[in-house]
Amino acid sequence: MDKLLIRGGRRLQGEVTISGAKNAALPDLCATLLSAEPVTLANVPQLQDVNTTIKLLANMGVAVQRAADRGDDQHDVITLDAGKVHNPEAPYELVKTMRASILVLGPLLARFGRARVSLPGGCAIGSRPVDQHIKGLQAMGAHIVVEHGYIEARGPLGADGQPGRLKGARITTDMVTVTGTENLMMAATLAEGETILENAAQEPEIVDLANLLIAMGARIEGQGTHRIRIQGVDALHGLTPAQAHQIIPDRIETGTFLCAVGAAGGDVTLRRTDAEQLEAVIDKLREAGVTVEPGADFIRVSASGRPKAVGFRTKEHPGFPTDMQAQFMALNCVAEGSAAIHETIFENRFMHVNELIRLGARVEVDGHTAVVTGVPALSGATVMATDLRASASLVIAGLVAEGETLVDRIYHLDRGYDRMEAKLRGIGADIERVKG
Ligand code: EPU
Repeated sequence: MDKLLIRGGRRLQGEVTISGAKNAALPDLCATLLSAEPVTLANVPQLQDVNTTIKLLANMGVAVQRAADRGDDQHDVITLDAGKVHNPEAPYELVKTMRASILVLGPLLARFGRARVSLPGGCAIGSRPVDQHIKGLQAMGAHIVVEHGYIEARGPLGADGQPGRLKGARITTDMVTVTGTENLMMAATLAEGETILENAAQEPEIVDLANLLIAMGARIEGQGTHRIRIQGVDALHGLTPAQAHQIIPDRIETGTFLCAVGAAGGDVTLRRTDAEQLEAVIDKLREAGVTVEPGADFIRVSASGRPKAVGFRTKEHPGFPTDMQAQFMALNCVAEGSAAIHETIFENRFMHVNELIRLGARVEVDGHTAVVTGVPALSGATVMATDLRASASLVIAGLVAEGETLVDRIYHLDRGYDRMEAKLRGIGADIERVKG
């Protein structure tokens, strides 16, 4: 298993280019199942989760062509052709490695009238059920049973006894769910009539997916608000390479680099990103004393000396993202003062705390609240990554710790960060991958 070896204490200086958003790329890749024509996506990040999704789609019969395979220099352009899907199934072997595989359920059911998708299990950050996805699809007339660990779904039976089109419905989810909203929005694009999604998630990744679907011919309004209206159409069309959908910049990768500079100090410009998607995090960084100067498609961040500890509460967008909680906690670990962090989205998202404590941090957890008291210096140690964002927080802590920090199990990091250690090296961090 690969590890990252970090020698802390370097200031960060220079430029980093931000990649396309993981949590937009995954639903966008699955949305290509909705059309019988090839769909081209651009600004696709190079990530293990993207590779897993491509494997999942290829296993169903989707033909995948990367621009690089055509001898093209554009590594971030991919064309997917779901014209010959023969196996509308997501097997356990793939789903168990990536919960976002559930995003094929809506598109498969909408286009083929049937789907067989392994039930995702629990994961390091909580039990994470998918009951809302199932409830919403049932409201659209789907017949769904869960047996032998699989969600077996088919569309409402037509007069010919065959599964037919889903029916538009008004759906109010019990809580705000990001992939739940995405699954239902995708399913509704090919349903008969109008679907209204109430209590919809407002994340920028939802807007990105809606924009892709609209470019493919879907009729959607209200994306980015709590009520999304979708008028079903008979079919969606493809997108040629010239019409490629550009995936939005990764706001969590952006926020991770902002926190790294805030904690380690330095002066860095993040290119190809969008500060507007990250206002809650930028506000908190400013409170911590970090200078953040947004431009049209870049952000300049600079910091010197210790930051000030800042408390926050995770919330759905536009609130403070749960996916930034661990990285901001790492910054608080070396800040002046103490601050309370409340995690409201996931039940078990403090797995990084014990590892941060191994590095000398002072953190006390009580239920959903972690109180961090900053220390003047962390000290390097061997630590273990437990999930994607926890790994990123350990890397940030390693950048500021005295001596050597070895972060083990970084396959979690590779799932969702595009060449993170290379990007950090590019701005002066002393970090290397140790193969193992
Ligand atoms: N929930 C249910 N039932 C459902 C759906 C959700 O109880 O049917 C609960 C969850 O257990 C959780 C809350 O609702 O407590 C919100 O979960 P949500 O469904 O919004 O999470 P998700 O869609 O599974 C996405 C991101 C996560 C991110 C969350 C919250 C993708 C592929 N994943 O997950 O990203 O943390 O939204 O913003 O978009 C990450 O990138 O590291 C990551 C975990």
